[in-house]
Amino acid sequence: MVEPILSTAAITKRFGALTACDAVDFDLRAGEIHALIGPNGAGKSTFIRQITGEQVPDEGEVSFDGANINALDVPRRSAAGLARTFQISSLIDDFTALENVMLAVQGHSRRSFSFFRRAANDKALTEPAMTHLTDAGLGSRANEKAASLSHGERRQLELGMALALKPKVFLMDEPMAGIGPGGSVVLTSILDGLRAQAPILLVEHDMDAVFALADRVTVLVGGKVIAHGSVDDIRSDPQVREAYLGEGA
Ligand SMILES: Nc1ncnc2c1ncn2[C@@H]1O[C@H](COP(=O)(O)OP(=O)(O)O)[C@@H](O)[C@H]1O
Ligand SMILES: [Mg+2]
Repeated sequence: MVEPILSTAAITKRFGALTACDAVDFDLRAGEIHALIGPNGAGKSTFIRQITGEQVPDEGEVSFDGANINALDVPRRSAAGLARTFQISSLIDDFTALENVMLAVQGHSRRSFSFFRRAANDKALTEPAMTHLTDAGLGSRANEKAASLSHGERRQLELGMALALKPKVFLMDEPMAGIGPGGSVVLTSILDGLRAQAPILLVEHDMDAVFALADRVTVLVGGKVIAHGSVDDIRSDPQVREAYLGEGA
C-alpha cells in the first residue's frame, strides 16, 4: 500500500467543553483529491488549522512525509511544503498577474524585494511565473493588473502564487466560496489538473465540485468522522444523507 504523504491519527481539539475535532483519522496520498465535507461547525477548519500548525491537537498525531510534525510551527511546516493555499499571500493590486507570481517565485528563491525591479525581465523569474500562471488557468490574463481581475480570477492568481512555493500538499478551505457558479466551474477544472502536481485536501461546501473532483470523501459531523469512502459510497450512505446531504441530494 502507498504510504500517505500526510496523515492524522486520532487528533482531538477541544475548546472548553466543546470537542471541535474528536479523534479524527485522515490521510492524503500522492495524486489524489481527498475531500472533507460536513455541515457548518463540524470542525473542518479546526482540522485544517491543526495541519497548518495554527493550532496544536490536544491529543493525537499529525504526520507529514513520514515524521510526526506536532511540534513544528507554521513557518516550518510551510517551508516543508505544507501550506494553506489561498491564505499564504496577498495580491498587489497595482502589479500585473504575472508580476504578482514573479514576486512569489522570487520570494521562494529568497531574493530580496529590492532586486525585483531590476529583475523584472529576468527569465529566471518570468518563465516559471508564466508556467504557474498557466497552470492556474490565467495565462491569457498575465498582463492585466490584479485590480482588474474578477473574484474568481483573483483566486486563480493566488493559486498561481501558491504554485511558486512548490507545495508538497495543497490544503484548501472552501476555495469555491464567493466566486459564483461560473468561477466554480473554472476552478474545478484547474484543481482537477493540479492533483498531479501535489495531492489536495479539499474542504468544500460546493457538492458539485466535491463530487466532480474527489477520489475519496470523509464526512465530519460534530467533530467526528461519520463516513469515509468513494463519491458513490458517500452519495448513497443513508447516515450521510440524513446528517448532511438531505434527501434528494
Ligand atoms: N478558537 C475557537 N474557540 C472556541 N470555539 C471554536 C474556535 N474555533 C472553532 N470553534 C468552534 O468549533 C466548532 C467547529 O468550528 P469550525 O472548525 O470552524 O467548523 P467548520 O469549519 O466545519 O464550519 C464550532 O462550534 C466553532 O464555533
Ligand atoms: Mg470552516
